[in-house]
Amino acid sequence: MATVTTTLYDKIGGAAAVEAVVKEFYVRVLADKQLKNFFDSTNMDAQTKSQIDFITMALGGPNNYNGKPMKEAHEGMGITEMHFDKVATHLVETLAWGGVSQEDIDTIVGVVGPLKAQIVEA
Ligand code: HEM
Repeated sequence: MATVTTTLYDKIGGAAAVEAVVKEFYVRVLADKQLKNFFDSTNMDAQTKSQIDFITMALGGPNNYNGKPMKEAHEGMGITEMHFDKVATHLVETLAWGGVSQEDIDTIVGVVGPLKAQIVEA
């Protein structure tokens, strides 16, 4: 019998789902007074593309990510645990908005949560 492996990326709806979620995620992050200043000098089109590639890779989709590793990408920004947790909450809420099941959201949190150690520095 053939073995069929479904990645989390496929399960949540592939490219269209990831693109929709990441776009909405940045709408929410930029509407958050405690987060928006971090992105004052950021090209949000490039950021959105890079984040789509990163999340796609993290969820087991095609690996087209050519941005920096997480530690390097966030170095010197003074990101605290509070900032990280707020960003993670926006991601969770946006995944729910996108119709992703609670079970899959929990799995995604398990993938993204451990990145905290590389991103938080203050
Ligand atoms: C789940 C946690 C996070 C993930 C997966 C993530 C992912 C990324 C990725 C993929 C990039 C692009 C790197 C590149 O293209 O080289 C990036 C850059 C960035 N991230 Fe994050 N990030 C996270 C948390 C945060 C938090 C908590 C903040 C601040 C509150 C933040 C602020 C930024 C900023 C300001 C940039 C740089 C944009 C620029 O180049 O101007 N990120 N992040």
